[in-house]
Amino acid sequence: GKDGVMCCLTDRIDAGLLAACPQLKAAANIAVGYNNIDLAACTARGVMATNTPGVLDDSTADLAWALMLATARRLTEVESYIRAGEWTGWRLKQWLGVDVHHATLGIIGMGRIGQVIAKRATGFDMKVIYSNRKRVSPDIEQRLNATYVSKDELLKQADFVVLQVPYSPETHHLIGAAELKTMKPTAILINSTRGGVVDDAALIEALKHGTLRGAGLDVFENEPRLNPEFLQLKNVVLAPHIGSSTEATRRAMAMTAARNLVAALTGGTPPNLLNPEARKN
Ligand code: GLV
Repeated sequence: GKDGVMCCLTDRIDAGLLAACPQLKAAANIAVGYNNIDLAACTARGVMATNTPGVLDDSTADLAWALMLATARRLTEVESYIRAGEWTGWRLKQWLGVDVHHATLGIIGMGRIGQVIAKRATGFDMKVIYSNRKRVSPDIEQRLNATYVSKDELLKQADFVVLQVPYSPETHHLIGAAELKTMKPTAILINSTRGGVVDDAALIEALKHGTLRGAGLDVFENEPRLNPEFLQLKNVVLAPHIGSSTEATRRAMAMTAARNLVAALTGGTPPNLLNPEARKN
């Protein structure tokens, strides 16, 4: 009985839901990723779908960086140690981590968020390499001091591999056993995009057997019921899908979704319309 819905990435907007809501004209996702929405099904029923690009780029890039730094310097591991009351004194070779500064950062997915992650690397004097479906323009490469390489080359060279591709059938298990084997054993993997881009079982094997140094993870397959083996590993930093979760950014996302919905329901064109063809149906 509703004309519009503001929905989250945990709500599936699919053929079944659309059939149960024949009055629906628009679905405004409060997220940039929209793999929870069956766009073809929406278009077939003339339902406009929208997302919230842009407003969360900086906050999501910050979280990817927080995971990089926390994993490199073992921040959650050492905090648990202090909280457990086990710190008895300073030692020269205690809790050695790895440097982020001057290391090689490999970004897979150089869209809006990937570019903001790269921008922050300048302050850390990092070498930035990236792979992407399409090479970005020379002026963006120059501004970010980023070099385009193949995914294979990136996996071989990077000390930190950050994933920032959207989830789709094409990116399902983009990082699996073979890709993890290609990475340096000293490397750290950051997944701050979507569960399913990484084969979590393969990642756990690599982390258990030391063929990968560590991982910083904000997203998981089958979240919130993540693979319980992650909880046994010391070389992971875990976060509950909070990439865009700051007060200002979640408000901006909600307002963007609201503007999209109002436009859709008042005869306008939503600024972030994902399926313009829906308006013709
Ligand atoms: C969060 O994961 C989003 O896609 O906005």
